Amino acid sequence: MKVLIAGGAGFIGSNLAKRLIHDGHQVVVLDSLIRGNKLDQETLENITLFEGDVRDEALVIEAAKGCDLIYHFAAVLGVDIVAENPVETMEVEVYGTKNIVAAAYANNISKIIYASTSGIYSSTEIVDDVLTEELLVDPHTSYAMAKRYNELYLKSHFDERGLNSVSLRFFNVYGHNQDNRMVVPRFFEQCLENEPVTVYGDGKQTRDFTYIDDTVEACIRLIDLKGWHIVNIANEAEWCIADLAKEIKAVTQSDSEIIHVENEHEKNGYEVERRIGSSKKLVELTGFKPMITLQQGLEKIYEKNYKNQTSTPC
Ligand SMILES: NC(=O)c1ccc[n+]([C@@H]2O[C@H](COP(=O)([O-])OP(=O)(O)OC[C@H]3O[C@@H](n4cnc5c(N)ncnc54)[C@H](O)[C@@H]3O)[C@@H](O)[C@H]2O)c1
Repeated sequence: MKVLIAGGAGFIGSNLAKRLIHDGHQVVVLDSLIRGNKLDQETLENITLFEGDVRDEALVIEAAKGCDLIYHFAAVLGVDIVAENPVETMEVEVYGTKNIVAAAYANNISKIIYASTSGIYSSTEIVDDVLTEELLVDPHTSYAMAKRYNELYLKSHFDERGLNSVSLRFFNVYGHNQDNRMVVPRFFEQCLENEPVTVYGDGKQTRDFTYIDDTVEACIRLIDLKGWHIVNIANEAEWCIADLAKEIKAVTQSDSEIIHVENEHEKNGYEVERRIGSSKKLVELTGFKPMITLQQGLEKIYEKNYKNQTSTPC
């Protein structure tokens, strides 16, 4: 297959590109490179790269020429960055997805796999101890609202014109190539620099962490699925941030002190108390369940990125 990955130079996209090439597919990446380029030299030599903005419709149509499938992962993200750029966040989501859909029609592409987010659940009440896709969602931020809009926008295109799509609700993906906008690489860096590990608030807020290899596997398993779907990509394990800090401190054998700092996100309504996702639907649709535990994933990051080094971003 020939596959377009919009946002393919980012954390998840670059790992997916590597896997698709390994599996024998042709890969095209469209990315503004606003967050740098996480594609390694070997991958770069095996892809076609379009450097540009997903809001540029003509460019997206051009990049998608001859493709069979589009992964749409281009986005503005990071809690602080989104809070500072709410309008751009929405524009990239909404105009970007409109262009991805236009490119699918222009090039006769019948399937889009879109990166939505578990952030959509915001303060959605957790029923039966996990968040399932059927729950009534309650997005709070410009980012989460735009993601929800896109899920429904894609539904309308399936209902009206039969365009197949899957919206993936990612739950805190972590692993190789992630930068320190996110909590896991930030804690690694602090531990390896022997700096204080800064936990926001009391650290009792929980998240469900999914290792990148499991995330990429799920992205691959959903390629042939027809129809319109929303699917959680979650590990079904709930970790509080204070315990995450302790785990990373143990893996890195760091002497860093764990300190608690004021939770800015709580003040502006961005903090979510609990997040744990059900992977039942993913299992039903693909037979695959993310399996890598947080401890295993953190060990893998340490082995791959930091062992025998003092400090480099993961
Ligand atoms: N990482 C996570 O835990 C997580 C959780 C939930 C959802 N997601 C979603 O998954 C997708 C991938 O996330 P990621 O962690 O790889 O993030 P990332 O920031 O590493 O990757 C996003 C990529 O999009 C590119 N980009 C940004 N604006 C663009 C624009 N206007 N035009 C073209 N390219 C642009 C960036 O340069 C970057 O390479 C995003 O849609 C994100 O919202 C990620």
